[in-house]
Amino acid sequence: HFDGHHEIWLFGYGSLIWKADFPFLERRPACIHGWERRFWQASHDHRGTPEAPGRVVTLVRRPEAVCHGMAYRITPEVLGPLDVREKNGYLREVTTLHFLAPDEHVPGGGSPDQTRHAHAEGLVYIATEHNAAFLGEAPLDAIVEQIATAHGPSGPNRDYLLNLAEALATLGVDDPHVFALARRLRALLVPQRSAGPARGER
Ligand code: BEZ
Repeated sequence: HFDGHHEIWLFGYGSLIWKADFPFLERRPACIHGWERRFWQASHDHRGTPEAPGRVVTLVRRPEAVCHGMAYRITPEVLGPLDVREKNGYLREVTTLHFLAPDEHVPGGGSPDQTRHAHAEGLVYIATEHNAAFLGEAPLDAIVEQIATAHGPSGPNRDYLLNLAEALATLGVDDPHVFALARRLRALLVPQRSAGPARGER
């Protein structure tokens, strides 16, 4: 029996796009309006350290913007563990999710009749400029340099950026900010040609 109060849509626009480490009933590509994804939030605990923080995404308001991501239909109990994200400055916001593609059901889960709607109210975690870990805008090259060197308990910050760019490309959506950063990062990671003879040459 469906009861709207016992299921919640959660919109992921960062690591949640490619990695859901919680149980969910269903997930669907979706977008939200009026928000833009930016690598403007420091990560001291996942993709960096207090001494060398990484950069992860948050959302900033821009009226005409559209941000694509992945929506998860979850039960409220799942929010408890997720709320530890608030420790790093993220707060929950209610927003309208616009679904993009046909449902993607997990085996045994899902309920097509209730999810054909083109939109639904949902939750999203946002780190605003008022949180202590907010870094804000910086030149793209400076952001990439920070991402290229930072490592944290969840792994290299560079993997976070590359995974995000790959996940967005797989969704078939554009994000000029993320793709520009990923292009610069890949260029940095290309092994430098040494001045000496190439392999196989004398
Ligand atoms: C996200 O993927 O949407 C997300 C992940 C961690 C914290 C906030 C948002």
